[in-house]
Amino acid sequence: MYQFKTRLSQYASLTEKTLQQYLPEESGDKVTQAMRYSLLGGGKRLRAALVLEFCLALGGKEEDALPFACALEMVHAYSLIHDDLPCMDDDDMRRGKPACHIAFGEATALLAGDALLTKAFEVASSNNISPNQIVQAVLTLSKAAGHHGMIGGQRMDLENEQIPANIERVEETNLLKTGALIMAAAKLGCIAAGASEGIILLAEKYAQNIGNAFQITDDILDCVSSEEVLGKPIGSDAENNKTTYVSFYGVDSARDIALQKVNLAKQALNMMDSAMVNSSGFLYDMADYILSRTN
Ligand code: IPE
Ligand code: IPE
Ligand code: MG
Ligand code: MG
Ligand code: MG
Repeated sequence: MYQFKTRLSQYASLTEKTLQQYLPEESGDKVTQAMRYSLLGGGKRLRAALVLEFCLALGGKEEDALPFACALEMVHAYSLIHDDLPCMDDDDMRRGKPACHIAFGEATALLAGDALLTKAFEVASSNNISPNQIVQAVLTLSKAAGHHGMIGGQRMDLENEQIPANIERVEETNLLKTGALIMAAAKLGCIAAGASEGIILLAEKYAQNIGNAFQITDDILDCVSSEEVLGKPIGSDAENNKTTYVSFYGVDSARDIALQKVNLAKQALNMMDSAMVNSSGFLYDMADYILSRTN
């Protein structure tokens, strides 16, 4: 019988096992060690789960989605390594252990991030699927990761430390720094399943809203959680003088707004119902989980 947490941990184990295969312990040079350190053995693997679930729900095959899921987790892991650097958020802990630059030094952390980003495109391109789907996926991933995607959001996030950001700007920052990769996850799953343009747009609408809710929850947890539970420092946003939904509205109103986003996500999902040949409710539950998660 379907259970959200069970399905999520199945997706996470499958992703973990496959990532190990893409980055086996071999030469043991410092950069490869740092890549493995930050990529493996941690992380909720939510982005991979979205790729896999969208593909399966739309009637696609797991093996077609898995390289895209792993590529996306590589881009995500790279983004976290660089996000923690002293010149960025300057955070010492990640996934319950010392951040990459603390464990390996800044220069190696920088290179490990670069190498994970590059590896992601190697992995996505080596998918045994049609060349047309590979091109679509690589285009999706590169746009989502780049200067008009995640990097654009990170740029705005840093600028928001210096200038008083309005809420529209905070929303745009969230949509780029976090939403872009989550939207890419949904789209990659659709591409792997060979879904139509109309379905991809709805999937992106869903992901855009859960992406925004995800970052609002992240900002709430940064205020109300503990380092033990979260696996990363708390109070990082306030320390860096970041403008967030929480600094703007306070925790309770930020939570209400995140709930509204989740409801919008579910509406988009409703509209895809007829295309979902293997619908289990996982994507609805994922939207709820994004609000209720504790780490
Ligand atoms: C953390 O993402 C970075 C943000 C975009 C807020 P996750 O909370 O998904 O990190 P892991 O992969 O589970 O560690
Ligand atoms: C991270 O946002 C976004 C990216 C890494 C792209 P945060 O800076 O809030 O993420 P955490 O809290 O360090 O995980
Ligand atoms: Mg940051
Ligand atoms: Mg950070
Ligand atoms: Mg944060």
